[in-house]
Amino acid sequence: MPFLTSSKHTKLMNKFKRYTVTAALPYANGPVHIGHLAGCYLPADIYVRYLRSKGEDVKFICGSDEHGVPITIKAKKEGITPQQVVDKYHKIMGDAFKEFGISFDIYSRTSAKVHHETASEFFKTLYDKGVFKEEITEQYFDEKANQFLADRYIVGTCPKCGNDNAYGDQCENCGSTLNATDLINPRSTLSGEKPVMKKTKNWFLPLDTMQPKIEAYIDSHKDWKTNVFGQCKSWLNSGLQPRAMTRDLDWGVKVPIEGAEGKVLYVWFDAPIGYISATKELFENQGKKQDWELYWKDKETKLVHFIGKDNIVFHCIIFPAMLMAEGSYILPENVPANEFLNLEGNKISTSRNWAVWLHEYLLEFNDKQDALRYTLCANAPETKDNDFTWKDFQAKNNNELVAILGNFINRTLVLTHKYYNGKVPVALEYTKADILLLEEITKFPSKIASSIEQYRFREALGELMNLARLGNKYLADSEPWILIKTDEKRVQTIMNLSLQIVANLTVLMEPFLPFTSKKLGAMININKDLKWNDATRTDLLLAGHQINPSGLLFEKIEDETVDEQVLKLKNSKMINEAESSKTEILLNDENAGIPIINPAKADISFDDFNKMDIRVGTILEAERVPKTDKLMKLLIDTGIDQRIVVSGIAAYYKPEDIIGQKVSILVNLAPRKIKNIESQGMILMAENSNGELSFVVPGKSSVDNGANIK
Ligand code: MF3
Ligand code: ZN
Repeated sequence: MPFLTSSKHTKLMNKFKRYTVTAALPYANGPVHIGHLAGCYLPADIYVRYLRSKGEDVKFICGSDEHGVPITIKAKKEGITPQQVVDKYHKIMGDAFKEFGISFDIYSRTSAKVHHETASEFFKTLYDKGVFKEEITEQYFDEKANQFLADRYIVGTCPKCGNDNAYGDQCENCGSTLNATDLINPRSTLSGEKPVMKKTKNWFLPLDTMQPKIEAYIDSHKDWKTNVFGQCKSWLNSGLQPRAMTRDLDWGVKVPIEGAEGKVLYVWFDAPIGYISATKELFENQGKKQDWELYWKDKETKLVHFIGKDNIVFHCIIFPAMLMAEGSYILPENVPANEFLNLEGNKISTSRNWAVWLHEYLLEFNDKQDALRYTLCANAPETKDNDFTWKDFQAKNNNELVAILGNFINRTLVLTHKYYNGKVPVALEYTKADILLLEEITKFPSKIASSIEQYRFREALGELMNLARLGNKYLADSEPWILIKTDEKRVQTIMNLSLQIVANLTVLMEPFLPFTSKKLGAMININKDLKWNDATRTDLLLAGHQINPSGLLFEKIEDETVDEQVLKLKNSKMINEAESSKTEILLNDENAGIPIINPAKADISFDDFNKMDIRVGTILEAERVPKTDKLMKLLIDTGIDQRIVVSGIAAYYKPEDIIGQKVSILVNLAPRKIKNIESQGMILMAENSNGELSFVVPGKSSVDNGANIK
């Protein structure tokens, strides 16, 4: 496809006075890995750095998505509160982005007060305008866990592709957006049980009646990436359905109307409003409280959302529908979405630890952020899913960064020091070839710009490398190291020209390789803030300008280093597979019903056994231990006495159901304090491979309390 000519793209650029660029707010439930970076943060950062270099007015907005079920699932898993989860990961994620040079103007969070207020107000506005349809629907309810099930807590078979582990909101296999009721054979991920239907009231965005408006909006954006436009069309073709904007959950932004107690805003309602809240926070911090509105409400602002492909429907249809319904906002001008990045041939997975975590990368490759930025951009999953391999990372670093870009710059700087003590020589007389080369050089800024403006970052990076290749070829063809013996004057021109290419590279590489650009800028001693269009010139370094001592910009990466990384990955996968087999059994139909039997323990003597005093008892009273999920406080008649026992059975039994239940109890276990309650003994339980507990009971209910179990 031909790229836009520079005059046409200048026109495009001038249509807008300012830019609001967002990158998807990541869920604060895990650290950042290379898939995140490649999918959305890196391309967004390249785009924004380029715009800044052009002198455009741009705000780059991001933050943590701290609500929603992924957070509550993580909290359950780690046995901590959702707030503790988001506090921990908000910090880790923010730090990782900073360390990789992702240059957000603000990295906010959706638990912030300004966000709760903004999201509440937005909902209230729509509510007051009568936008929502109020509906009592039947929702899936887990009777065992006694709660309504959010979509992510339900898995089942995808009606579109047959994937057995589709979630209630989305099938990760075929990408379809689903409603929980679409799933065939639904089951609760909390208990593994089949959920039942129960009535509840919720507020729906009437996407069905809004369809014509949304369709017109999408159709006015045939310029969007084909993967994005295509997905939108396919949703529209199958007909939009009303979607609930409230949820029966206790973690999130409270629904700000009467009769909605115990409900929160749907996370996909509140999260994109997070872009707005973060912009407000940014300007509030700068003491220009009102200015945020320019970035969200002025027609001359270009709003661009960078996301991964699993977010397309939310950014292209639902969020624009919300903005339309509200009425005072501009709509997204473009939503460049990337496909997924795989790792060594497998889908990146946080729970399986199949990932390269940014903070771990830095431990191994401490100042090589740009090597990763380079590989991820060169390999970006722009049009299809792509694979990251450590071997390819090594090859890109060694064969491209070191051998092409680094080599050209290094040769130029070393020769300048050697021949001219680091002073830029005068260009005396250009040959025909020089003139052609100069013309070539001046085209690069608009070539690269055109690719970037069309969100083709791989292509843009390829062009940047072509400039370095051009430089390398020039040096190789003109051989200044040989000519220096016979034609010193010619060498001055060659070196001057090469140095100009180095200067232009410094400017043009900045969006992609900001750390290297900075280092190189210091080496060639350009301290003024050069802009993108300066790279259309070929006289950035004046004759006589003194450059600083130079060093290598990139280092070769050895086989052992990457082999180690591959090994590490394989190990962590093995460990995690062993650890997670227990929980995954609930989610994987194929494995369900195949119990995992623990290996036998070491033999003990009869005397050892005889030390245990196990009796039959009856539960007289039972109550949950407050602020715990699992514990129940029981009063047991043991035949010898009545005593308190704390037992971890609350997830499996309701107190009222077990009064009068016969149990086996170990009565001579030394008393232990559990949650400040003294537990005097232990109820014997049988634990299934899925973690489910049941009482070990005497075969006849007539057995007396106090009877010994032998
Ligand atoms: N947290 C979501 C995800 O990781 C993205 C939210 S983007 C926003 O898939 F628009 F909602 F902020
Ligand atoms: Zn599917």
